[in-house]
Amino acid sequence: MSDIVTLDPRRIRELFDLRSDVYASRGGSFEKNPYPDFHRLRETGPVHPGVLGPLVGYHGEGFFQGLPFPELPHFSVFDYATCQDVLRDGHTFVSRPTAPGPELDMADSVMLYFDGDRHRRYRALVQGSFVPKRGAWWTERWIRTTVHALIDTFQGNGRADLNVEFCAAIPLLTICGSFGVGVEDALRIREAATSAGRDRAVLAEILLPIISARRGQPQDDIISVLVQAEITEDGVRQALSDTDILGFALLLLAAGSGTTWKQMGITLLALLTHPHWLEAVRADRALLRPAIEESLRWLPTDPMFSRYAVRDTELGGVAIPAGSVVHLCFAAANRDPARWERPDEFDPSRPLGAHLGFGGGPHICLGMHVARAELHTAIDALLDRLPGLRLDEAAEQPRIVGMYERGPTSVPVVWETR
Ligand code: HEM
Repeated sequence: MSDIVTLDPRRIRELFDLRSDVYASRGGSFEKNPYPDFHRLRETGPVHPGVLGPLVGYHGEGFFQGLPFPELPHFSVFDYATCQDVLRDGHTFVSRPTAPGPELDMADSVMLYFDGDRHRRYRALVQGSFVPKRGAWWTERWIRTTVHALIDTFQGNGRADLNVEFCAAIPLLTICGSFGVGVEDALRIREAATSAGRDRAVLAEILLPIISARRGQPQDDIISVLVQAEITEDGVRQALSDTDILGFALLLLAAGSGTTWKQMGITLLALLTHPHWLEAVRADRALLRPAIEESLRWLPTDPMFSRYAVRDTELGGVAIPAGSVVHLCFAAANRDPARWERPDEFDPSRPLGAHLGFGGGPHICLGMHVARAELHTAIDALLDRLPGLRLDEAAEQPRIVGMYERGPTSVPVVWETR
């Protein structure tokens, strides 16, 4: 990991700044706190016609290029119970888009868009590498080394913007490490995974030689798991094709690097701006796990995911015609007062229960235990190695921004150096 020093901070900043062009199409510059609107909408009914963004005053572009499916009816769901109803009813609400659009282009190779048996079979191929007991494998193989190598680069400085120098790099280097991709190609990979067209040519150029090498000689990594996996399609058992493996890789990169980056920043800011919780966690690390879980409830980085209705139905008293797009606002559901007392308060001591920070139902986040391991290892190490870690009051005060992907503008901190 000594090559970690070769990571160009300016390049990371460009690729990991919610206000940069990379995030323009996902509402990265949206500055308003949407939670008062979530409450206002939920108070008049759990389900509203329309798309989440415009309903809370965001009139910029949609998630990818423009609002997908402008011709279809759209509905948004704001309470916990109705979100769960939709997630659990795979016969009525599917993940595969029902109309042409940018998502449909990926729907044949990315399991996020698969449904039913096909989704189960593909997910089962990699599930074994993502179960809780494999958390230690991820931590020992990739996470811990990356975390400590990064802290080595700034420990003597006494101040840092952790958002870029730390939070952004850890998940990217973890996923890339698990693919056998070195630090030098990690930023090219990140750029490819975030580009509007999801630049498969760059991914293929970097990953195909690794896939071919692992087919010859498997190692202890995720690409080796994929090359050895067999899937039964139409009664025939076969190895995954290179295209299948690239689809998996693209999904893991897209789903696993940006999310953990932003959630780590959100968790750190939650602690830094609630100093009594920061002190409590510093003194008793058993509180770190509940603090991470509470941050996922209180401010999940991905506030919304969508499903597609395949038949006429009804939700929360609202008629939903077949073909509708149903946006599940996990962020609003996670502050549903019917489920949590004082829902707007960041309170790691609350009896938490299940939340929707990682989604729910069959598509519940595959990488949630990896994400938890990254967040835990990273924050634990910061508290161990940076004495007196606190918010840098002299820096521009950080804000949580973004519409469809939310995260901090910066995580400026200072600490004592000896
Ligand atoms: C804190 C960080 C993370 C958050 C908040 C998060 C959130 C989510 C959510 C809400 C979903 C559900 C999407 C839906 O229902 O349509 C999801 C799915 C997924 N996530 Fe994560 N995620 C995180 C980290 C990761 C990591 C680290 C990985 C991989 C190493 C990962 C891989 C995936 C995959 C593969 C899926 C699709 C699962 C499926 O379709 O069956 N995620 N994630």
